[in-house]
Amino acid sequence: MQTYSLPQENSDSVLLLQLTDTHLFSDETGSLLGVATRDSFHAVLEEVAAQSRPFDAIIATGDISQDHTPESYQRFADGIQRWTQPCFWLPGNHDDQPSMKTVLPSTQIKSCDQVLAGEHWQVILLDSQVVGVPHGELSAVQLDMLDQALSGEPDRHALVLLHHHPLAAGSRWLDQHQLKNNDAFWQVVSRYPQVKAVLCGHIHQELDVLHQGVRVLATPSTCIQFKPDSQDFALDKCNPGWRWLSLLPDGAIETQVERVCRRTFSPQFDAAGY
Ligand SMILES: [Fe+2]
Repeated sequence: MQTYSLPQENSDSVLLLQLTDTHLFSDETGSLLGVATRDSFHAVLEEVAAQSRPFDAIIATGDISQDHTPESYQRFADGIQRWTQPCFWLPGNHDDQPSMKTVLPSTQIKSCDQVLAGEHWQVILLDSQVVGVPHGELSAVQLDMLDQALSGEPDRHALVLLHHHPLAAGSRWLDQHQLKNNDAFWQVVSRYPQVKAVLCGHIHQELDVLHQGVRVLATPSTCIQFKPDSQDFALDKCNPGWRWLSLLPDGAIETQVERVCRRTFSPQFDAAGY
């Protein structure tokens, strides 16, 4: 297991910025259903910077790239270079792990399994990618790593990150693409009451529900948004967004989703898929 220790510098809580589903291209004009993903990513970065909120690390929960190129990952790395905090990322269904590795280890971006964050928390990063298909699955190796990370740190509260949503989110078309073996995932989690939340990307919308006593969170993409509760593919009118998280010493989590408000991004609403 690859473990990274994250010092907690800003408060008595661990403060995280989540960016997800950036879907970047090597070409800076590359667009996804009419949204130039470099522009929407930078609109997010600029509004995050304008907030001047302190944070300890960035977490990026997959679908960093849309075209699998090393340049698209470098575009992400260049974007977050305005900050000095480390970024921990994991792959989504659209990612190419060999290309992701091309920006490592020379940048602030870390690829690891476990982050020991301050004194009271750990963040576990899972790889749910099944190469070539949109749905997710956790291998036996990943499930075992989750189990080991939790059993090895019984006194730390845990935040678990993965790209795919580990329960139905209410949209038939998207729920076909969820984590397929979510029963196996929840069986491991159920043995460890220190798991406080599971945080994912993939569904390009905000979600905050309780499942088996664990908070399940999802976060808007920095580009296009999927319409909640839609049976068929549909885009939402909401702007790109991001999420702030404060992991408190007592195991509580305070979190807010924010969206770009200085300009409007309008995708092709009549698109039948992506
Ligand atoms: Fe995505």
